[in-house]
Amino acid sequence: MAVVSAKEMLLKARKEGYGVAQININNLEWIKAVLTTVEELKSPVILGVSEGAAKYMGGYKTVMAMVRSLDEFYNVTVPVAVHLDHGTYEGSYKALAAGFTSIMFDGSHYPFEENLAKTKEIVAACHAKGVSVEAEVGSIGGEEDGVVGMGEIADPNECKLIAETGVDMFAAGIGNIHGKYPANWQGLRFDVLQTVSDVTGGVPLVLHGGTGIPAEMVKKAISMGVSKINVNTELQLEFAAATRKYIEAGKDLEGKGFDPRKLLAPGYEAMKKVIREKIEVFGSANKA
Ligand code: 13P
Repeated sequence: MAVVSAKEMLLKARKEGYGVAQININNLEWIKAVLTTVEELKSPVILGVSEGAAKYMGGYKTVMAMVRSLDEFYNVTVPVAVHLDHGTYEGSYKALAAGFTSIMFDGSHYPFEENLAKTKEIVAACHAKGVSVEAEVGSIGGEEDGVVGMGEIADPNECKLIAETGVDMFAAGIGNIHGKYPANWQGLRFDVLQTVSDVTGGVPLVLHGGTGIPAEMVKKAISMGVSKINVNTELQLEFAAATRKYIEAGKDLEGKGFDPRKLLAPGYEAMKKVIREKIEVFGSANKA
């Protein structure tokens, strides 16, 4: 299937009560691992691409060329969206021009009126090309310089106004953070999620920071209107652990074990396992 916008797959997920995974990609192995696994499970998927990851892979156009070619090579039949993750204002336009099928414009660090105005403008530009848009209100926490910020809880009134811009999916800070959760994490703020769900008029909601949120919490969030769950760090951790194991066992020193096709294979399989587990928890298998 051609690479598509995330709009229809998320509306279907919201209606039928399951979640679609956004798996962030970093290189060829990541794209292959996601595409082959979702095809095996007949699940829709969103490939998340941060601006940093796009730069690492050789720019937005290279990312699109790789995804489109691999999609064709593996005869992928399930819907796949290529989504800019936490896009800046400039980055959103660059990704749109390069053919991304979905854009997250993260204006959460701007004063609210500016976030609203820029989101509106980006929605118009993207919708003119059939590209879906995600907006964010309240910030998602995460680790920076060894300090874990807890993020900023979304203001319901701001959520309502941003949802009214016509965005196709909506991310709100509900106590979720990127990367590993600290031991004293209080869990997701379901009270805030309920309010956000009530004021956003049925727009599919997005849960960032999918790494390390217990499955039961994710399932509850899905039952309350979350239709997209973003996962990045967990694949990186599992890839690194499997690669470490291979090298520590001295396998790279045996025969042609240094060949990247062998060296990267355990990490590749470890990523496929994480993707399978996520799809199982989110309930999107056979929903393509
Ligand atoms: P994690 O890295 O915590 O899985 O979060 C991913 C994410 O939210 C990308 O936007």
